[in-house]
Amino acid sequence: MQSTIDYINEKTGNFAPDIALVLGSGLGEFTKNLDGISLSYSDIPGFKTSTVKGHKGALFFTKIHNKNLVIMQGRLHFYEGYELSDITFPIKIFKKLNTKTLILTNAAGSLKKDLKPSDLMLISDHINFTARNPLIGKNDDTLGERFPDMSDIYTKTLRDIVKQTAHEEQIDIKEGVYLMATGPSYETPAEVKMFSNFADAVGMSTVPEAIVSNYLNMKTIGISLITNYASGISDVKLSHNEVVEMGKTASNKFAKLINAIIKNI
Ligand code: HPA
Repeated sequence: MQSTIDYINEKTGNFAPDIALVLGSGLGEFTKNLDGISLSYSDIPGFKTSTVKGHKGALFFTKIHNKNLVIMQGRLHFYEGYELSDITFPIKIFKKLNTKTLILTNAAGSLKKDLKPSDLMLISDHINFTARNPLIGKNDDTLGERFPDMSDIYTKTLRDIVKQTAHEEQIDIKEGVYLMATGPSYETPAEVKMFSNFADAVGMSTVPEAIVSNYLNMKTIGISLITNYASGISDVKLSHNEVVEMGKTASNKFAKLINAIIKNI
């Protein structure tokens, strides 16, 4: 971990990010007109590289509204074959760089008819349906406690700020529970029927990062862009292209909201 921090500090001149932002599908272009320092994952000691189409693999250090940000352009997924410890390694690094707030974004399928493709959903809570946990293994007591409380992962005070910000920007945002399945196959209609009893949206990311962020005592915001109805809710067959295309369609609204949230937290 120390070699990673040393590398980043050397390249950025000891830049200390206040906020870390993880870009999911639909926000890939967020950094387009920003000046900053870009470090490719493949050059950062300890980082693994993302293999998914539409996910660039770089850390981008920049300033927005006078706040220091580190932006993950592309995340790692469990379905790519990575260990949850690899996926959550960057979150631990952000904590060591003194980051206080983590904003996680993703693309997700809707489990409810009234949550439509192109809607944004503020994550109020999650269900970890992977049967894995990134905190399994020997605990490092200097980072966090063995049995962390999970009752306010998606920090209530920040959720209130996000809702107020969306209202001010006249952007509609729903709120709901996100369920993570491992993927990479999409869910079956039977699975979707079961999940819809407990959650509002389903996706293949975010939960490991949120668990570790909570463990590290960082404040967390999670926002899903609904790219499609989950399997069986509509008769459209699912494709990754559809997810990427909807991400592009809604990206302006998504980027505008994230920008305003950064200003207000
Ligand atoms: N299921 C799982 N993950 C997803 C979906 C979905 O329908 N859409 C976008 N990510």
